[in-house]
Amino acid sequence: MKVGPEQFAFLRDLLRRRTGVVIDDSKQYLVVARLTPIVRQRAIPSLDTLVDRIRKSGDKALEQDVLNAMMTHETSFFRDKSPFETLQGLITEMIPRRSAHRQLVIWSAASSTGQEPYSIAILLNERFPDLVATWRIRIIATDISEPVLARAREGVFSDLETNRGLAPDLLRKYFRPLQGKWSIAQDCRRLVEFRCLNLNGPWPMLPPCDVIFLRNVMLYFDIATRAALVAKMRRVLKPDGSLFLGGAETMIGIDTGYERLSGVGCSYYRPKARG
Ligand SMILES: C[S@@+](CC[C@H](N)C(=O)[O-])C[C@H]1O[C@@H](n2cnc3c(N)ncnc32)[C@H](O)[C@@H]1O
Repeated sequence: MKVGPEQFAFLRDLLRRRTGVVIDDSKQYLVVARLTPIVRQRAIPSLDTLVDRIRKSGDKALEQDVLNAMMTHETSFFRDKSPFETLQGLITEMIPRRSAHRQLVIWSAASSTGQEPYSIAILLNERFPDLVATWRIRIIATDISEPVLARAREGVFSDLETNRGLAPDLLRKYFRPLQGKWSIAQDCRRLVEFRCLNLNGPWPMLPPCDVIFLRNVMLYFDIATRAALVAKMRRVLKPDGSLFLGGAETMIGIDTGYERLSGVGCSYYRPKARG
């Protein structure tokens, strides 16, 4: 299957306008790989016909399916390990500072199918059982894509998914077998609230956050979009809060409003004190 230049340009602009995700002209193969299953499922004669249908008939359901298919939802439990080890240390340090209000808000800002927020919930249950029992802990997990959020809310993972990053003892402790898969335990599930949110659109009310995981999503945006996003994050993050980016992402060239700090095997960012 092939995609015509005009159709490719339309898709590239649509993706950028709706999500902020940028694909360059060399990514025609990606469009073909990601959209061919939709063309086949819907028995549409060609990829160009699919694009023309969105352009001319304004088929919003089809448009949404195309946008969801074009995005990368790759994730895993305890991805890269070190941010979670660093988070453990940060929570330990934060406990005395937060003990008057006994609340903790952690935002997983591009949560995909849920492995990231559930890893945080497992970490909290495993390392901070007293906090989980007696504090108000909120893990707010957001993503732009409804189908991945639906999967995340379901909280059921295959062997392939649990084998990626989850130690066998944690699997036994925090998951129940369910029809050949693994269902996340209520102790973890109840800490996580899933919401649909476009990072590059207007944000609904979010509480001030102690920690934000903004991991492996900024790399799909252009520099201006990244700069605007981290500036907006600064308004949601508490002054002593911490922001984690993905392993291949940095603030270099995009923002001066944060200081970079060293964690256990990774960096994280804290808002600079206003001068
Ligand atoms: C590669 S996954 C990262 C998942 C997780 N944070 C991790 O590091 O494993 C990127 C996620 O970002 C979401 N995404 C892309 N653009 C977005 C936007 N504008 N607003 C919110 N989420 C977005 C995608 O739907 C996808 O699920």
